This record gives sequence, structure tokens and C-alpha cells, in this order.
Amino acid sequence: MGARQLRAAVELVEAIAPLRARLRGADIGRIGLVPTMGNLHEGHIALVRTCRAAADTCVVSVFVNPAQFAPGEDFERYPRTLDADLRLLEVEGVDVVFAPPVGEMYPDGRRDHTTITVPALARVLCGASRPGHFDGVATVVAKLFNVVAPRQAFFGEKDWQQLAVIRAMVRQLDMPVEVVGVPTVRAPSGLALSSRNGYLTAGERAQAALLNITLRKAARAVRGGERDHRRIERDAADALSAGGFEVEYVGVRDAARLVEADANTVNLRVLAAARLGRARLIDNVGVEDEADV
Ligand code: PAJ
Repeated sequence: MGARQLRAAVELVEAIAPLRARLRGADIGRIGLVPTMGNLHEGHIALVRTCRAAADTCVVSVFVNPAQFAPGEDFERYPRTLDADLRLLEVEGVDVVFAPPVGEMYPDGRRDHTTITVPALARVLCGASRPGHFDGVATVVAKLFNVVAPRQAFFGEKDWQQLAVIRAMVRQLDMPVEVVGVPTVRAPSGLALSSRNGYLTAGERAQAALLNITLRKAARAVRGGERDHRRIERDAADALSAGGFEVEYVGVRDAARLVEADANTVNLRVLAAARLGRARLIDNVGVEDEADV
């Protein structure tokens, strides 16, 4: 870059103590936090803009959290693009970026680290195929809440189950944080933006649109009154398999509890995870989301 910039550079903080010091003081006001693993795209930016609009001081964390990756998953090859991320966040007017090294977040190593487990919610759907994943997410998010002490924290609906797990953690542990969900940002094809879309070839990226198309079709069937949810799940899984996906699950679930619908269910959501090429993709739609289609 070289040239001096007119705009104040975004402040990069890499350790907990200076971050705490930076976030003390009368002029800090309401703190908003956007936790990320970096490699930012328009989905993350939507969270940042919502945070900027709501908070006086906007903090974005960039940390590829080893605790939420199982052995053999993509922790090592997960894209790390901090310089580009900082430039994007600067344009968005973010106040502080917290990008700690692993040793700062897990100084005692990971094996003996205190872990937060949100039962039930964390064991179904993605939690069934990625054991320990949501423990890793809940633990790092709790740590970030403790370090940043935000009034509000912003999470994408794209990771619906993650949002549900974090809401449950905050409620059950009485954390003084308001969790704000932000709608999924999509490519024109309907494909939910994701850092993992970078693992797709151009051809696979076109194929990947089928995931959202299939979920919307399933949501339409539920909305249309089809009560046999197992059949809807099966039909959707078959459509995805026929389109080249390796399906992990398709679920029609209670949107909050993620259990199968029962007499108490008022709000349904259709969620899926499926592999395409080297990428594991997830998406979800609300049954009442798009009454127009
Ligand atoms: P990451 O995958 O980087 O996502 C950070 C946040 O951006 C999450 O809240 C996610 O739901 C949101 N997001 C991603 N793609 C989106 C899209 N297309 N539209 C709207 N929001 C989107 O999720 C994580 O990181 C981690 O698990 C984390 C919460 C940071 C804990 O390590």
C-alpha cells in the first residue's frame, strides 16, 4: 500500500490485555461484536453494517478457531486473508479488529481447556456429523464475549444452528449480551455466500445453486400443507443426490429447538448440509420466509 491514507486505519489488536484496555473509557458507548473466522465476504459485511448501525464501538474478531474443527477437517487449509480483511473492515468504518494467535486464546493448550457444551441443540443436524463442533464454537464465543463485553453480538442466519446454540448458551448462562441474527446474504443464483464456496470449481459453483432451490421447494411443500415431513426430507435429499451432492442431512425442524415438529411447533425451518466436490455446504430457509414463491 505505501501511501499515507486520509482515513483513520482500522485498529488491529492481537492480544487480550490491550483489547480490554482499548475498550475501557467513557467514549466507548455501546459495544457491538461481530465474531468471524476471516476471509470476509458480503455475508460478513452485512453483519458488520448491522453492527455499525446499532453500536457506538464496533469490534470484529478474526480467529480461525481450532477447537471447532475435528481432526481431518479443513483447519489447516481454511483461507487466511487478514490483510484483505483489514482493508474491507477499514472501508466499513470498523473501530477495532481483534485477531489473536491461537496461543492467546488457548494459553493452556486445548486438551485441558474449559469447554462449554450446549446439550440437545448441539448434537443434532450438523452436530451429529461434526461431534464437538458446537462445543468449540460455544467456547470461543463465550471467551470473546468475556474479553469484549459487547452489549450486542451479530451472527448470520446462514449458520442457523450456530445461532440457536449461541442463543441457548446466552440464555442459560445469563450472559449480558443481546444476540442479533442477520439474514443470509446470497449470490444471484441463491447460493449462500460462504468462505467454503472458494473450494468449489466454477462448474460446481453453478451446480451448488441447487441446494437453495431444493430447500425453497421443500419449504413450499410444508407451507402448502404437506404434513409428511419425512417424505419432504427424502424428496429433497433425492433431488440433491441427483444433482451431484453427497447429502449429509435434510431436516424440517422446529426453528428454535431444532426438533421435529410437534403440536407446539409454530415456526418451521428447513435445513440441510451436503458435500459438493471438496466443499461441505450448509443452508436453511424459513417455511414462512418467502410466501411469494
Ligand atoms: P464464519 O464462518 O467466518 O462466519 C462469521 C459470521 O458470519 C457467522 O455469524 C456467520 O453466520 C456469518 N455469515 C457467514 N456467511 C454468511 C452469509 N452468507 N450471510 C449472512 N451471514 C453470514 O461462523 C463462524 O465464522 C464461527 O463459527 C464463529 C462464530 C466466528 C466462531 O468461531
